[in-house]
Amino acid sequence: MSSWQHTDIIIAPSLLAADFSRIQEETQRAINSGGDWIHLDVMDGHFVDNISFGPAIIKAIDDVNDAFLDVHLMISRPDHYLDRFLDAGSDMITVHIEAEHDVSTTLKRIKDAGRQAGIALNPATPMSEVEPYLDQIDMLLCMTVVPGFGGQSFMQEVMPKVEQAAAWRNERGLAYHIQVDGGIDQETAPSAIQAGANVLVAGSSTFKAADMAAAIQVIRSSSPE
Ligand code: DX5
Ligand code: ZN
Repeated sequence: MSSWQHTDIIIAPSLLAADFSRIQEETQRAINSGGDWIHLDVMDGHFVDNISFGPAIIKAIDDVNDAFLDVHLMISRPDHYLDRFLDAGSDMITVHIEAEHDVSTTLKRIKDAGRQAGIALNPATPMSEVEPYLDQIDMLLCMTVVPGFGGQSFMQEVMPKVEQAAAWRNERGLAYHIQVDGGIDQETAPSAIQAGANVLVAGSSTFKAADMAAAIQVIRSSSPE
């Protein structure tokens, strides 16, 4: 079995760092600037200590453009709200392993709806927790900050988990994306790519850059040292 590699880096600007008073224009700006996916951080004020937005906002975004919507659910009961996020037009739904749900059943429901399914794990959660589900997922998200807020510092100590994810993918002939989320910029992207990540979420470093297109380009082309 040949080893599988993602050769193209996918950049997913996180709308959490956008100007919420102009959400449609900001989404379009991310796409026009070369963003591949739009990353949407859903926070319920319970799973994480912040509240962001829900399915109505995602539907409003889906209604006006064709962007691939990468929905990151930081909510305690993803199973309870799942149908609403599917109906809103999510293309990828990533659920946390630490949330309260039957993970396998949630993943199956996402796949049965014809969407892509991801699992996320927090920096403190061991990789052994996600190992049983690897053959059910399209993406594994290794959080590189404690989730809840944009603008935090990248945790280099998570990189061995990204390396483990890449090694398991190779050994088992699987094809999931490996995503990193939190503190990604031109300084930290090379080490994430080196470790094996191919989907880079970037909020502050893209939306708050003076030139968003240039910021995305530099992250995309940043090669390991
Ligand atoms: C953190 C969110 C991230 C956040 C990243 O809880 O999951 O997606 O928007 O923001 P930056 O890129 O600013 O660290
Ligand atoms: Zn996120």
